[in-house]
Amino acid sequence: MSTHLPSQVTLVDVGPRDGLQNEAQPIPAATKIELVSRLQDAGLHEIEVTSYVSPKWVPQMADAAEVMAGIARRPGVRYSVLTPNLKGLEAALSGRPDEIVVFGAASEAFSRRNINCSIEESIERFRPVVQLALAQGIKVRAAVSCAVGCPYQGDVSADEVERVVVGMKALGVQHCGIADTIGVGTPRKVQAAMERALKHFPVEEVSGHFHDTYGQALANIYACLEMGVHVFDASVAGLGGCPYAKGATGNVATEDVVFLLNGLGIHTGVNLDALASAGAWISAELGRPPVSRVGRALLAKKATV
Ligand code: HMG
Ligand code: MG
Repeated sequence: MSTHLPSQVTLVDVGPRDGLQNEAQPIPAATKIELVSRLQDAGLHEIEVTSYVSPKWVPQMADAAEVMAGIARRPGVRYSVLTPNLKGLEAALSGRPDEIVVFGAASEAFSRRNINCSIEESIERFRPVVQLALAQGIKVRAAVSCAVGCPYQGDVSADEVERVVVGMKALGVQHCGIADTIGVGTPRKVQAAMERALKHFPVEEVSGHFHDTYGQALANIYACLEMGVHVFDASVAGLGGCPYAKGATGNVATEDVVFLLNGLGIHTGVNLDALASAGAWISAELGRPPVSRVGRALLAKKATV
């Protein structure tokens, strides 16, 4: 039995961005700001707050500047935002993000649907974004969408993943996130994609971003832990989906990941009860129960005592 799992994991809560971007109902900026506040209260040190994308493409993120201006920053917490192009980064700068995310795809079809250009064009579009961010002292993370499957193309090979990883690395991107956008990955497939990222980035600069559509995300996280990967995105209450990946549900719920890691004795710094309360609160704001199994179990337990 392998005992060489990491002793510590960094969780990036992407709920305010990946979670809420897919909501059809308008969500006030104040609610998004409150969510960020509750996440940092729960001990999250990395929060993906919003994205500076076209409001015609993703109307829910149109208040990015207001949200970034409204958050009560806490020392030791890092705030990231998505910027698909120079226009997005220029708009993001006044919000002083600690990190920006450029997002490409391993599948040509998804690249076109999500950011309206080919993979090659996307890399060229990211070049000035990465240069400007680095010149401003802002860390740059890349997300590689559809790293194990695509809603339009179907299977995606590890070679296709590596092609984007290499393109991102050549731009000077500092961190590479491997994303299973539609949650079809299973452990061996995810490990094969991860391996390609690990060929080009150090293990501390590689992360997993697993949507839980088919209920495989925790198994995939465990498979990545076995490889030494110790940074994962997750979404409080399991919020979300992707507007350009029909049927995809949210990221793996942060509560579920913390419960798994607590059970493995892996430190996250996150207080599970406070996190579950944040998940219950935002779910109530959205008018539904939390998607998180752990969140629901903890709520039920509370109700019976
Ligand atoms: P485009 O239409 O090709 O862009 O969209 P354009 O440069 O031709 O501009 C068209 C219009 O958009 C212009 O406005 C621009 O000013 C405006 P108009 O003159 O028509 O009034 N525009 C912008 N406005 C605000 N901010 C901007 C911006 N850029 C242009 N940054 C574009 C290209 C990339 C902008 C568009 O496709 C877009 O915004 N896509 C975003 C899609 C998105 O947000 N998807 C979800 C996030 S990614 C994700 O969820 C995956 C991830 O979680 C990992 C995973 O799970 O896989 C990260
Ligand atoms: Mg995502």
